[in-house]
Amino acid sequence: MELKEAMFKRRSIRKFDSKKVKEEDIDLLLHYAMAGPSACNRRPWEFFVVTNQEVLEKLRRSARFSNIIAPLAIVVCGNMKKALPLHLQDYWIQDCSAAMENILLGATSLNLGACWVGVLPQKRPVERVKTILSMENHIVPLGIAFIGYPLENPEARDQYDIAKVHIIK
Ligand SMILES: Cc1cc2nc3c(=O)[nH]c(=O)nc-3n(C[C@H](O)[C@H](O)[C@H](O)COP(=O)(O)O)c2cc1C
Repeated sequence: MELKEAMFKRRSIRKFDSKKVKEEDIDLLLHYAMAGPSACNRRPWEFFVVTNQEVLEKLRRSARFSNIIAPLAIVVCGNMKKALPLHLQDYWIQDCSAAMENILLGATSLNLGACWVGVLPQKRPVERVKTILSMENHIVPLGIAFIGYPLENPEARDQYDIAKVHIIK
């Protein structure tokens, strides 16, 4: 699927077939994620790939607004040891968000569905996800991409709103 099609076709998918996502597609999604831009090219990201049913179930319950049963989750995290120093540190959130969006668009292009479930800035979900995946202190989960073969097919849509556009002449 071409990018211009995937851009509007990407929607949050929350119902999935139990069929496993192919290893080669998981690998591609990780390549797409790490192809994203990052401030000063620090690439302060880490990706936890989960296909184990029990762990997926724990992740499903970890986030406040997530009730998604999927065969795959990629937890996108920041590595504070790789992030920029001092007041620039928070750029990791933007870097990891770009990686997350690449995963979502990439999944769509591979005819997979995905949903971004937010973890940061909710303190308790952050702690729960860290515990479930035994993360070291300097790793902070930004969000979870639940991924699989979609059992729902929301319409492709364009949310263009001219009122949001400010053209400076
Ligand atoms: C930072 C972020 C956090 C989100 N967290 C959740 C979530 O916890 N649970 C959920 O079902 N969807 C979550 N979503 C998906 C949004 O609800 C969804 O993107 C929005 O409703 C627009 O729908 P669309 O993705 O189909 O375009 C999140 C999206 C973003 C960007």
